[in-house]
Amino acid sequence: MTTSTAVQALYRPFTAGTLTLPNRIVMAPMTRAMSPDGVPGANVAAYYRRRAENNVGLIITEGTVINHPDASNNKDVPHFYGETALKGWANVVAEVHAAGGKIMPQIWHMGTKGQVNDYSEAEIAGIVKEFANSAAAAKEIGFDGIEIHGAHGYLIDQFFWEKTNQRTDGYGGSLVARTRFAEEVVRACREAVGPDFPIVLRLSQWKEREYTVKLANNPEELEQFLQPLLDAGVDIFHCSTRRYWEPEFPGSDLNFAGWVKKISGKPTITVGSVGLDSDFMTFFAEGRSSGNAGIEGLVQKLENDEFDLVAIGRALLVDPAWATKIREDRAEDLIPFTRDALSTLS
Ligand SMILES: Cc1cc2nc3c(=O)[nH]c(=O)nc-3n(C[C@H](O)[C@H](O)[C@H](O)COP(=O)(O)O)c2cc1C
Repeated sequence: MTTSTAVQALYRPFTAGTLTLPNRIVMAPMTRAMSPDGVPGANVAAYYRRRAENNVGLIITEGTVINHPDASNNKDVPHFYGETALKGWANVVAEVHAAGGKIMPQIWHMGTKGQVNDYSEAEIAGIVKEFANSAAAAKEIGFDGIEIHGAHGYLIDQFFWEKTNQRTDGYGGSLVARTRFAEEVVRACREAVGPDFPIVLRLSQWKEREYTVKLANNPEELEQFLQPLLDAGVDIFHCSTRRYWEPEFPGSDLNFAGWVKKISGKPTITVGSVGLDSDFMTFFAEGRSSGNAGIEGLVQKLENDEFDLVAIGRALLVDPAWATKIREDRAEDLIPFTRDALSTLS
């Protein structure tokens, strides 16, 4: 297969600890809610396998919930506990591995209560234990690592954010105290899987209905925020933004993933509207620059080592062969994202 020189950086291998990926393209976690009673079936396995067959270096599954009453609000969101659901996941892993792919589950607690002030310390300890149980199960089933969902206003992020966390015990009261729950989750998962099993933590400044919120307002705060998470054993940070080309703080072009990498020294994943802008492929189609949001802007940032990996959401949801088509410079074959794609597992 020939790779267009413009995108070669996306198709270079990546290694971090025990994790080796053939290229830099990651499938972003996307909830599909098509696992009846929490059990992912053959259709879910085939959906992920199609991406593995098409040059996706790492698949991060849709959010899959731990065993706790507030963890889910939808019976078709997959579970990451219980024999039947875990058997379904084992089949997903087998299919993806048979196609030569790598896959991590996104371990999730939705925090359906919407705020965290009411949990007793005993209940918090129980939730932490369930994250660790799911992490251990992921390793046992043969996943290539785990991603912990700490973003978008769900449980872990509810602890991070001062608007949802007004606790006055050790879990609240300052930016660093609000990281304690996540730190305990990461630490418990690390203990459950051992030192070598990759742990990715997904973070976002923005919340699902509050796009302009910032947990850290400047690099100094970001450093305070990241340190406990680093100490707890995170290997890779997945830095969720809505547009990867937007600078995170004034005075620098670095995006969120760029800042997290610079401060933590750990590899990072960027994400947000890659391949969605209709100008994304102008560079190929017309040989002229397509601006910040274009593919050459993305590749340039990757070549500058601003971040290590690039997650693709909607473009890969609608088009399983997105990464193959980009590699082969087949812009004309890309399937544009429409909301209709959300109703099928194609
Ligand atoms: C249908 C859909 C479901 C999503 N579900 C999740 C999820 O379960 N966990 C998560 O962290 N992000 C989720 N996201 C966010 C994506 O992972 C990604 O960050 C976002 O779509 C931006 O990337 P994109 O512009 O390439 O689509 C979801 C996005 C979409 C479109």
